[in-house]
Amino acid sequence: MNNQKYDSAFKATMNGILDLFKKQIPIGQLSDNERLDGKTCLVTGANSGLGFAIATQLAERGAHVIMACRNDIPNAGIEVMKLSGNKNVEMLFVDLSELQSIDNLVVQLKEKSILIDICIFNAAVVPKGSLKTSSGFDQMFLVNYLSTFKLANLLLSENIIVANAAQAPRIIFVSSESHRTQQPIDVDHLGVFENYTMGKVIALYGYYKLLMNTFATELSRRLNADKINVSVFALCPGPINSNIARAAPKIFMPLLKLIFALFFKSPKEAAAPVLYLACSHSLQNTTGMYLHLMQQKMMDDKALDPISGKKLWEKSEALLKGH
Ligand SMILES: NC(=O)c1ccc[n+]([C@@H]2O[C@H](COP(=O)([O-])OP(=O)(O)OC[C@H]3O[C@@H](n4cnc5c(N)ncnc54)[C@H](OP(=O)(O)O)[C@@H]3O)[C@@H](O)[C@H]2O)c1
Repeated sequence: MNNQKYDSAFKATMNGILDLFKKQIPIGQLSDNERLDGKTCLVTGANSGLGFAIATQLAERGAHVIMACRNDIPNAGIEVMKLSGNKNVEMLFVDLSELQSIDNLVVQLKEKSILIDICIFNAAVVPKGSLKTSSGFDQMFLVNYLSTFKLANLLLSENIIVANAAQAPRIIFVSSESHRTQQPIDVDHLGVFENYTMGKVIALYGYYKLLMNTFATELSRRLNADKINVSVFALCPGPINSNIARAAPKIFMPLLKLIFALFFKSPKEAAAPVLYLACSHSLQNTTGMYLHLMQQKMMDDKALDPISGKKLWEKSEALLKGH
């Protein structure tokens, strides 16, 4: 299904709200005894919005939670401890718009001998427009795609996430239905810096979510050729009353805040599909699942294409070489 339902801020908002009213067939419900005692979870962008709610709920279920963030250290972690009643929560610094910062995070995890059972790639940015980072890549391209590609691969190659067919660790990508963009992946132009303004941000945001879903599918393929060694999942949480629109023009802010408060889900509610993918016992020996809200769906065909997945992987590796 290709469509343009989410390619502008207005259409994305209206269609996100309409999706909430559509009949859903939920995949299931977590029970209170699907707990995470003894498990270690890492969540990126856990100081705000959905990530903060995910970290809190993982901690409530008994996990050791690592919040990988660039802001609100240590206050967000202290707040998660208070809300969850779990003191086994720590914050580590990472700025996903700086490639070196990802290496530094991995070094810290190694020094602490941390092994991750559940890794949730949640951080994303919706900027005002293009912003060249120190590596020459655009900020949104890095934060919303390439840094995740780099961090996921490093966590696996450094054995911080260890493939294990008996008890597969889980990697979860917070994506969006906006990945169903009409624009096919253009590997030749991937990573080329181009100036853009607000008008193009939402279309690019969807395109980078397509890259993320294509990567998720390819990762699952590569890790699980003969048996399931690492479960790889992705999801769209639906519209969330979070800080995602913080870069919107000031003049629209009061209206946006009202719409968000009236129609969008609270981060706590929106975390349900993430928690399900992280905790459900029924998903052991499963991989490749994509949820929209609580309903299982197929990703867009483009994200499932193995030729595209291979090309994207190779191009992403090539872009990171030399950085
Ligand atoms: N909100 C929605 O309606 C909606 C709908 C579908 C999918 N999603 C997805 O849900 C996820 C969470 O978004 P949200 O709605 O909770 O938005 P949010 O409140 O703005 O949270 C985004 C998180 O990403 C972090 N982040 C941004 N740039 C970063 C960087 N350079 N380095 C490290 N962390 C960085 C932010 O940290 P700072 O506070 O430091 O900036 C923040 O913690 C995203 O993947 C988003 O695409 C959201």
